Amino acid sequence: MPERINRRWLVARPATGPISEENFRWVEGPLPVPSEGQFLARNLWYSFDPTQRFLLGRGEPSDAESGAIPIGQPMRGFSVSEVLESRHPTFRAGDLVHCQMGWEDYSVSDGEGFAPAYRVPDGVPPNWALGPLGITGVAAYFGVREIARPKPGETCVVSGAAGGVGSIAVQLAKLQGLRVIGIAGSPAKCDWLRGEAGVDGAIDYHREDVGQRLSELCPDGIDIFFDNDAGSTLDLGLERLRQGGRVVLCGGTSRYGVRPPPPGPANLLQLVMVNGRMEGLLARDYMPRLPEVADVLLPLLRSGRLKSKEDVLVGLRNAPAGLARLYSGENVGKQLLKMDEPGPARP
Ligand SMILES: NC(=O)c1ccc[n+]([C@@H]2O[C@H](COP(=O)([O-])OP(=O)(O)OC[C@H]3O[C@@H](n4cnc5c(N)ncnc54)[C@H](OP(=O)(O)O)[C@@H]3O)[C@@H](O)[C@H]2O)c1
Repeated sequence: MPERINRRWLVARPATGPISEENFRWVEGPLPVPSEGQFLARNLWYSFDPTQRFLLGRGEPSDAESGAIPIGQPMRGFSVSEVLESRHPTFRAGDLVHCQMGWEDYSVSDGEGFAPAYRVPDGVPPNWALGPLGITGVAAYFGVREIARPKPGETCVVSGAAGGVGSIAVQLAKLQGLRVIGIAGSPAKCDWLRGEAGVDGAIDYHREDVGQRLSELCPDGIDIFFDNDAGSTLDLGLERLRQGGRVVLCGGTSRYGVRPPPPGPANLLQLVMVNGRMEGLLARDYMPRLPEVADVLLPLLRSGRLKSKEDVLVGLRNAPAGLARLYSGENVGKQLLKMDEPGPARP
């Protein structure tokens, strides 16, 4: 029986600047063997999230305690993987699981991690399991429906609006009967927002004066600001918050690679003036409610009323590019990677 090869990307350098292939090292080796309590799986799809940058560390002494992956260990990401062999009490050969795996053809896992592994619900394709029906969609769903507590007719502004979370959040906000303005970083993203996503207005923050455009598009102010950036747009949103306005803190992509950390919002006191509320959410903690999300979103996805906008790279070789694209802003919608065939058999 010819030996199968496990291709892998290891962490090679901390993320002290822009992320590129230089941060990783490609190696090939034998398949891992599951111990008692573990399963062996073939990785089929990966998702990319800006916070994966933290897994690379910053080249600082505190890296180890802040959860960075040691140099020489496989880079990790959320995956949908097929169980091949199991010594785990919950998972069986043939199961499709959502888990965190190394960037490699084959992994062993005990199912533990930042978010515990779970079986992908029947009828959910892997790309949806990592997008609207994964951490990404859960953040958008509960951010819009429970943290924002929307009322029909209100005005909602979403930053990072054409990314994974943002592209779902804007559509869910529209489905809740809100007037929705999306902020994104390119004309193509704004075109997608206005066209397919059906928002009421889009602002290209690289090319337009965001404050001026917000004032034009939200003349009566903003009821809900769904923030993925934690940057200057948050200040501009706070400034325009209406009486009883809500700010949903979902992410902070503009801050993740920046040292020392930039100062926070300059006008938090605006929350006082409007009796406003600012609240964060961590999607991981809402994952036990995934069935509820699937009950609502699956019919919407199947009917096309909710679009899963995806940006799909193919082949393990492209995994570093997948992460880098989040920071260059090239991805439109959820950045995914579909695996190619595992390594060729050795003679
Ligand atoms: N709270 C939670 O549980 C939870 C769960 C999932 C994700 N998140 C967070 O939600 C945010 C969106 O995540 P995602 O996975 O959907 O990523 P994403 O929005 O698909 O990708 C990142 C996007 O961020 C923008 N960006 C890149 N560099 C930036 C910078 N310096 N300043 C401002 N924007 C920048 C780019 O869009 P533009 O071209 O439009 O700038 C890029 O396409 C992230 O902050 C993520 O960590 C939170």
